[in-house]
Amino acid sequence: MTTDRQAFEGGVAVITGAGAGIGSGLARRAGELGMTVVVTDISAERAEAVAGEIKAKGGKAEALVVDVSKPTELDRLAKQVHDQFGDVRLLVNNAGIETIGFTWEIPIERWEATLNINIHGIVHGVRAFAPYMLDAGKPAWIANLASVGAFSVMPTQTAYIMTKHAVQSFSECLYLEMQLKEAPIHVSSIMPGMLKTSIFEASAGQGEPADASTHRKVMHDLMANYGMDLAEGCKVILEQVAEGKFWVSTQPEMTQAAVDGRIQFFRDQAPPFLSEQAKQLLAH
Ligand SMILES: NC(=O)c1ccc[n+]([C@@H]2O[C@H](COP(=O)([O-])OP(=O)(O)OC[C@H]3O[C@@H](n4cnc5c(N)ncnc54)[C@H](O)[C@@H]3O)[C@@H](O)[C@H]2O)c1
Repeated sequence: MTTDRQAFEGGVAVITGAGAGIGSGLARRAGELGMTVVVTDISAERAEAVAGEIKAKGGKAEALVVDVSKPTELDRLAKQVHDQFGDVRLLVNNAGIETIGFTWEIPIERWEATLNINIHGIVHGVRAFAPYMLDAGKPAWIANLASVGAFSVMPTQTAYIMTKHAVQSFSECLYLEMQLKEAPIHVSSIMPGMLKTSIFEASAGQGEPADASTHRKVMHDLMANYGMDLAEGCKVILEQVAEGKFWVSTQPEMTQAAVDGRIQFFRDQAPPFLSEQAKQLLAH
């Protein structure tokens, strides 16, 4: 078993969407483990704040502005990191947004942003970085942010949920591609249950239909009341990634329940149905 410090100390980590939430927690933890952390985010202010925190604790960090919805920015990032810092040991494709609303009520721009950030951001992060990792021929880790939502469905979270199903299958295929290549590159799918972050803040819902704010508030409060502590969750995530686990869960019982529900659905081949709990949530 490889411990996180054994695996990562002295290496370079690149994390997208690391200016807040899970990305920031993973960046702080990578800094504690002795990595040089490239803290990237669409917000310069947020990326600099997190990089500043890591440096204030004696760690090494660099803040860079990257919008993952633009594939060429990820190409630029991969080249810059390679030229400036050398081989990347850990890439976490983390940036993602939650979008709420009925399919036909979400404006084009919000649909495109959701698909581009949550799916293309991860695909093109891998496309940009993998060639450098393969050329280096050294052990490296790629971890992509899925969710327990990759194994469940939820009306009015359609845009978000379908991206997580896509990311899960992408990571599974990527894992197999690395096996085919016999590359020393581990691939993990991170499926947090619920960690306390800013993903359901009202401001994160800009561009959603107006009545999405009620559902957003319910989710925000659920997260505030029942979400796992961010630092604790991120520590658990990097431990499992370091071990080379494909399935990385913060709350394994939530992952198991979602997977069991999905298996049952496939077995029954019955129409989708809403649990009473979900109906109550959406009735607010
Ligand atoms: N928080 C949870 O419980 C949870 C559960 C399952 C999955 N996830 C996934 O974890 C990831 C992080 O979520 P979070 O809860 O930390 O969110 P968050 O909203 O707290 O943080 C997201 C960060 O991504 C950045 N970002 C947004 N758009 C970007 C873009 N185009 N390019 C670069 N950066 C961008 C934001 O500025 C922010 O700093 C997401 O992929 C999310 O789907 C989170």
